[in-house]
Amino acid sequence: MLRSAGATIVKKQKGGVMGVRGFWETQVVPRLIKCACASPGIMELRAGVVPRAQGRVFEIGCGGGLNQQFYDSARVTAFAGIDPSGKLLDYAREAAVQKGWKADIRQGVGEDIPFTDESFDTVVCTYTLCSVQDPDKVLSELRRILRRGGQLLFLEHGLSPEANVERWQRRIEPLWKPMMGGCHLARAVTKPMIAAGFQIEHPGHQYMPKMPKWAAWMEWGTAIKAG
Ligand SMILES: C[S@@+](CC[C@H](N)C(=O)[O-])C[C@H]1O[C@@H](n2cnc3c(N)ncnc32)[C@H](O)[C@@H]1O
Repeated sequence: MLRSAGATIVKKQKGGVMGVRGFWETQVVPRLIKCACASPGIMELRAGVVPRAQGRVFEIGCGGGLNQQFYDSARVTAFAGIDPSGKLLDYAREAAVQKGWKADIRQGVGEDIPFTDESFDTVVCTYTLCSVQDPDKVLSELRRILRRGGQLLFLEHGLSPEANVERWQRRIEPLWKPMMGGCHLARAVTKPMIAAGFQIEHPGHQYMPKMPKWAAWMEWGTAIKAG
């Protein structure tokens, strides 16, 4: 272990050194996320949402590749996805290769999506709006790239409807967020979608069993690009 300018250096990389924080964010967080997001209960919820994707499909925050197995190749004519995390993108690309289909998976952020207006029939967004920097900008970008009448299939964790749980979410969030790749615990799920011009259909919600309530509130459904 090296020490430099007060920072603990744990690993020497090709072009320089990586501090503890960098190591945590680029190596540990992706593995934690992949593991936490693959619990049997969460995979079951994915199985209820993702197979409804059809036509030209875009997945925001596709890193980890956990949704790949749920896409119905017979219904999807083209697949594209973006994610900012190099490590999670590696997992996503591996999953796409295993699925055996052509996937346009790129590094990028939802606040600035590198696709033209109205170029997708379906957007898939699972456990990603909790982590983006600017959810309103992301929703406006998702609306932009969807064709009129196109569907945003979502599955997110977020703000509990119970005031006492919300209080715990707001207490824990400042500790949780820096450890978990910027994940917010207390973001409303559907309210900003409606504000962005989507109509919510087939909404569902539940607390995930065997999880602390402050992390367990799940919401899913279809948000249609109205007008
Ligand atoms: C909790 S993980 C969920 C991963 C995947 N969507 C899933 O369902 O398993 C959050 C994901 O959001 C990605 N992310 C963070 N900020 C983002 C942004 N600004 N735009 C797009 N994706 C982002 C992270 O890299 C990570 O892959």
